[in-house]
Amino acid sequence: MAGKLKVSVLISGRGSNLQALIDACRSPDFPAEIVMVVSNRPDAQGLFRAQAAGISTAVIEPRDFPDKVSFDRAMTEVLESSGTGFICLAGFMRLLSPEFVDHWRDRMINIHPSLLPLFPGLDTHRRALDAGMRLHGCSVHFVRHEMDSGPIIGQAAVAVLDGDDPDSLSSRVLEAEHLLYPWCLELVARGMVTVTGDTCRIAGHTTAPSPLVSPARS
Ligand code: GRF
Repeated sequence: MAGKLKVSVLISGRGSNLQALIDACRSPDFPAEIVMVVSNRPDAQGLFRAQAAGISTAVIEPRDFPDKVSFDRAMTEVLESSGTGFICLAGFMRLLSPEFVDHWRDRMINIHPSLLPLFPGLDTHRRALDAGMRLHGCSVHFVRHEMDSGPIIGQAAVAVLDGDDPDSLSSRVLEAEHLLYPWCLELVARGMVTVTGDTCRIAGHTTAPSPLVSPARS
C-alpha cells in the first residue's frame, strides 16, 4: 500500500504493545508502517522485538543530556531523520517536555491501562480493584501536556472478576490493549479521526451492539 503513515514507537520495557503494532503492520493493507523504535533504556526487551522484525532502533539515554528539553530535542532529531510522521508511545516511562508534546501535537498517541479519565498514572489495576470497579480497561489517546490526558480515540473495557488481583486483571487488560492499539492507529492513519477540542470524532464508526454488563446477567 502506497503512502503509509510513517510511525515511530517509543518504549522503555517489555514491548508487548510494540509487538501488537509490529504484527498489525505486517498486513499489506495496514495504513501505517513502523520506521523506528526508540528506547530510553538500553535493556528494554522491546528492542529485541524490533530487531527481530528488522526495524531500526535507537537508544537515547537521559543521562547523556543535561536536561529534559535537550533529551527531547535529541529524540525529535532522531525521529525526524528517520522520516517519522507520527509517534506511538507504548510503555514509554518518561514525562515529555511541553515543547516535545507541542511539536508532535495531534501526531502522538499513547496507550494507558485504564478507562481514562479514571486512574491516570501508575498502579492502575490495584487502584481499580481498590475502588471496587466492575469494569476496567484501557484507552488510546492523543498526548497533551498533562500526563495521561488528551482526546480519547478508543477504549476497551473488560470485566473485573471476583478473585482478581492486579496481575490477573492486568493480563486481561493487556489482551485488550493489544487489540485496541493497532485498531486506533489504523483509524488515525486512515484519516478517520478528527480532534475537536478535548474530544475525538470518528468518521463512520460503529458501536458495539450490546453493553458489557459486569456482573453479567445469567
Ligand atoms: C502497558 O500496560 C501500557 O498500557 C502502559 O505501559 C504498559 C507497557 O507494556 N502504558 P508493554 O511494554 O507494551 O508490554
